[in-house]
Amino acid sequence: MVKICCIGAGYVGGPTMAVIAVKCPAIEVVVVDISKPRIDAWNSDKLPIYEPGLDEVVKACRGRNLFFSTDVEKHVAEADIIFVSVNTPTKTRGLGAGKAADLTYWESAARMIADVSKSDKIVVEKSTVPVKTAEAIEKILTHNSKGINYQILSNPEFLAEGTAIEDLFKPDRVLIGGRETPEGRKAVQALKEVYAHWVPEENIITTNLWSAELSKLAANAFLAQRISSVNAMSALCEATGANVSEVSYAIGKDSRIGPKFLNASVGFGGSCFQKDILNLVYICECNGLPEVANYWKQVIKINDYQKSRFVNRVVSSMFNTVSGKKVAILGFAFKKDTGDTRETPAIDVCKGLLGDKAHVSIYDPEVTEDQIQRDLAMNKFDWDHPMHLQPTSPSAIKQELDYQKIFDNMQKPAFVFDGRNVVDAEKLREIGFIVYSIGKPLDGWLKDMPAIA
Ligand code: NAI
Repeated sequence: MVKICCIGAGYVGGPTMAVIAVKCPAIEVVVVDISKPRIDAWNSDKLPIYEPGLDEVVKACRGRNLFFSTDVEKHVAEADIIFVSVNTPTKTRGLGAGKAADLTYWESAARMIADVSKSDKIVVEKSTVPVKTAEAIEKILTHNSKGINYQILSNPEFLAEGTAIEDLFKPDRVLIGGRETPEGRKAVQALKEVYAHWVPEENIITTNLWSAELSKLAANAFLAQRISSVNAMSALCEATGANVSEVSYAIGKDSRIGPKFLNASVGFGGSCFQKDILNLVYICECNGLPEVANYWKQVIKINDYQKSRFVNRVVSSMFNTVSGKKVAILGFAFKKDTGDTRETPAIDVCKGLLGDKAHVSIYDPEVTEDQIQRDLAMNKFDWDHPMHLQPTSPSAIKQELDYQKIFDNMQKPAFVFDGRNVVDAEKLREIGFIVYSIGKPLDGWLKDMPAIA
């Protein structure tokens, strides 16, 4: 029986291992983490992350061939294949601060593997890491090896939060990079056999280590670039009277462009896009490629511009100040079907409004009040107005908003600012709202109150 251990029970480690366990009943999978509260939550009825379909998968195999534990060393020592899925945030201090990936967690995981291993191991990079990380990991492991043979593989994860289970069940592709030696190829084959339980062979791509590592950064950079491209167009649409939804539809029909990831919005968020592009920028700079670095940096600059453009639009529409005005924020996570608030554009929007002394009420069915407080506490502003957070009740999730009632209770003029282009703007205008939809022709009111970018 093959034994798998995954270090890191987060958004990637938890769902990925649960799917391997459910698809491979003959493999024992143990997910380990240094965080006891996280492991306790994985072993409880209230899992630490929300992901559609995750509960069912975990319930089907937890206690059978899927286990969650804080006994990191024991399970690492027993495993044949070790996935490392620890967090790799942007460095906040020291060399490369603000850009480079912080590999502290990775390094300590690697040192621990070297310390406790007594048999040969396949070590799989599941975390997103800078290209060439495998070389550093190899050094740590082999210099402390006591004669043990390690094979490092890069197997980056392409799941998206909100659709993780669907993505894992039916991945567009699984990517495995390894050393081009007989031992390397054997290790690639062993991991391929795990995925082959449910992924068609033609969807399992094998490459050299560096291609696999770089492909993950490249994929995120390309995806984020599409969002920044359409968001840049949205500003031009507002200035010219074009409609960004019509433009997206028209260009997406071109099979060379395709329709996905072309919705204008208040900007991308989540723990990966910004972090991975910054990392890519840093790698380019370190390799003496400043032009390439600047090209990708622009994707982040447009994202920041889009967030501040949105805040400016809100403030300028309401007579250039929101001081003392009541603003309800619907949705706080970085997208639907997740409770993850890492790098959510809502943080910047709320901070912008709070900076102008608005009275902000925030509601998201998947995000706790504590989390919102924590996210907004990490701020540069000294705001002196308390936030009013609505209690989150699951029953409210499916409740339809009664816009007529909301309108009747609001001060006039009443505004709706749609950062995702999800409301029916025409219907709301019939009720009497002034509506701003990103990248769409502006109401007369908004035209008369140009946003100062
Ligand atoms: P996370 O922060 O949710 O989970 C990481 C976990 O690792 C934490 O629970 C932490 O306690 C644990 N950990 C850290 N050091 C440890 C150690 N030495 N021993 C044991 N446990 C340790 O992070 P998430 O979102 O799961 O991301 C993990 C990696 O996957 C990152 O590199 C990320 O870029 C990548 N990734 C994330 C995706 C996402 O949508 N969140 C998608 C694809 C890749």
